[in-house]
Amino acid sequence: MDDLRDKYIKLIADAGDESTLEDLRVQAVGKKGEISLQMRELGKMSAEERQVMGPRLNALKDEINSALAAKREALADAALDERLRGEWLDVTLPARGRRAGTIHPISQVTEEVTAIFADMGFAVAEGPQVESDWHNFDALNIPGHHPARAEMDTFYMHRAEGDERPPHVLRTHTSPVQIRSMELQGAPIRVICPGRVYRADYDQTHTPMFHQVEGLALDTDISMANLKWTLEEFVKAFFEVDDVELRFRASHFPFTEPSAEVDIRCSWEGGQLKVGEGDDWLEILGSGMVHPNVLRAGGINPNVHQGFAFGMGIDRLAMLKYGIPDLRAFFDSDLRWLRHYGFASLDVPTLHGGLSR
Ligand code: FA5
Ligand code: MG
Repeated sequence: MDDLRDKYIKLIADAGDESTLEDLRVQAVGKKGEISLQMRELGKMSAEERQVMGPRLNALKDEINSALAAKREALADAALDERLRGEWLDVTLPARGRRAGTIHPISQVTEEVTAIFADMGFAVAEGPQVESDWHNFDALNIPGHHPARAEMDTFYMHRAEGDERPPHVLRTHTSPVQIRSMELQGAPIRVICPGRVYRADYDQTHTPMFHQVEGLALDTDISMANLKWTLEEFVKAFFEVDDVELRFRASHFPFTEPSAEVDIRCSWEGGQLKVGEGDDWLEILGSGMVHPNVLRAGGINPNVHQGFAFGMGIDRLAMLKYGIPDLRAFFDSDLRWLRHYGFASLDVPTLHGGLSR
């Protein structure tokens, strides 16, 4: 019995894996195992012999069983350790920079513009991109026959046959949000409305989908001087310089009177776009004092409240600030372009923390 014991204890200790261990179990304490066979021999013994041998065999069987269980556990622990070593990874390693996405210049500039106007007390308002003909035109003092409808190269939505109502349009500017804001909030009011707009237009400085940000300020004592100051302060803050040259050019919009368009001095020399130098001008916005008809359409009494409005091209601002010569590249989704002109995703522009650095 001592030989049996020594033999199996050694074999179990040497077993390298689960299946060897299982074979040993069958061999020793399985139904036809060596120890089980010994136990069967008990029947042939005398009563005295059995009293001695019975307990010894049982003890041996218990010892082998616990040796098997202990070894099984040790093997499982070793397997787990091995796996942990193999699958170890250092979660403190820095992320791979190249894989991080970048913020598109349009989003960046929208954030910058919003930060500047928020600092001047303007809240952000939004409106739908598929707009009613009334909000996009009529309410803005552009009646049905007005040439401005054709000038804006409008995209019209499909209309069911026999439907006599005017079709909805893809909004041609952010000005309809002026009307919606007046309807919602009344006066006094100070809002900016950034968003997408659409026109059938396509060249180096025009794309069929582009972005504008509308501004609207109404109160009892607002004049053209406030408009000019606001826009000059904006441009200085936006370009992060003191010497940007602006040109206020008399213009015409049905929804403002008087009206002005604002251009920025720039140069296109050698295909490079630079702001603040050269002999070229790029138009960035339209503006003026809100027309009394527009105030009335928005439910505002023009004898009490007046104010200014403006609408600027976000894409044009981005071109000028970041020296991007062709507007069409903004929407090509070329990864090399995006990596070159994109912005880090964690740098939120603020006036105190810096707009673009
Ligand atoms: C308007 O859209 C007026 N709603 C602006 C306005 C608002 C005037 C409030 C008065 C009061 P305009 O069509 O000029 O105006 O466009 C405004 C700006 O959008 C332009 O100065 C230009 O910067 C930009 N823009 C116009 N068309 C395009 C285009 N196809 N692609 C990119 N930017 C454009
Ligand atoms: Mg214009």
